[in-house]
Amino acid sequence: MTHPLELTGAAVVVTGGGSGIGRASALAFARRRARVVVSDLDAARAQAVAAEIAVIGGDAIGLRVDATSEADLTALRTACLERFGRVDVVMNNVGVLALGAPESLPDEAWQRVLDVNLMSVARSNRVFLPLLLAQGSGHVVNTSSASGLLAYGFDRLPYVASKHAIVGLSEALALYLGPRGVGVTCVCPSGVITNIVEQIAVYGEVAASPRAPDHPLVSAEAVGELVAEAVAKGRFLVLTVPEIRDELVGRAGNLEAYLQARIAEQTEGRS
Ligand SMILES: NC(=O)c1ccc[n+]([C@@H]2O[C@H](COP(=O)([O-])OP(=O)(O)OC[C@H]3O[C@@H](n4cnc5c(N)ncnc54)[C@H](O)[C@@H]3O)[C@@H](O)[C@H]2O)c1
Repeated sequence: MTHPLELTGAAVVVTGGGSGIGRASALAFARRRARVVVSDLDAARAQAVAAEIAVIGGDAIGLRVDATSEADLTALRTACLERFGRVDVVMNNVGVLALGAPESLPDEAWQRVLDVNLMSVARSNRVFLPLLLAQGSGHVVNTSSASGLLAYGFDRLPYVASKHAIVGLSEALALYLGPRGVGVTCVCPSGVITNIVEQIAVYGEVAASPRAPDHPLVSAEAVGELVAEAVAKGRFLVLTVPEIRDELVGRAGNLEAYLQARIAEQTEGRS
């Protein structure tokens, strides 16, 4: 069941909204006349995006919210209810990376990436879903990655694992929420031009690894537009380049051959 959502007047919260895909999505929602609470670990960034929205005639506030803190997410919910009287769209967008060889990445690297990328969605579900379920309408957007669909990037296993987990949980959540009037969108971008390099922690020597399918980089603005459109139309999956569909179909048709071919590419690259 798909749930198109009227964005005019809708109240939207975005985590990690001070930069990149979160910022661009906040602006795209505002261009469709939604009202937005822009949240970010960096308060100044969140407030700057809210100011950009005001410049285009929109209604927004910027808040410091650490998506790893359930108390902060609860404060985000309260702020949205106080300002706009409701919450319609919850965009769980934060994501960080740890790079290192699979055999040496320490627990702290795994824990940080899983805490920020994955557990922030679990916390957000506890904070926001009771509200959406009670109103019987709304939409949840989870930002995964192309590396949640195709396991590129052996130099970033926690990231790949967290993003695969987000695809799986989003699909299961759509099965739960769809019949209850609430839509789910899972955003799986290939490379996007953002400030994500600031979020990378590097552990030891990192062997060159294919980062993502060799697809063109896209602007964050283009992704923001795709996100707002998917919510408006009640679509589940957002891909940023069409080529990824062919790769997914090829992989699904013959996973064994697909993976063996990719291992062969890596072996040639090393010789
Ligand atoms: N850039 C890409 O190529 C790409 C590709 C696929 C998926 N993604 C995903 O898109 C999402 C957004 O990344 P981006 O590329 O726009 O990065 P970005 O660095 O431009 O923006 C991320 C924002 O999140 C904030 N943030 C970090 N930790 C936080 C926390 N604990 N609580 C609240 N805010 C926090 C940062 O301050 C920053 O403003 C991430 O989930 C990322 O994994 C990015």
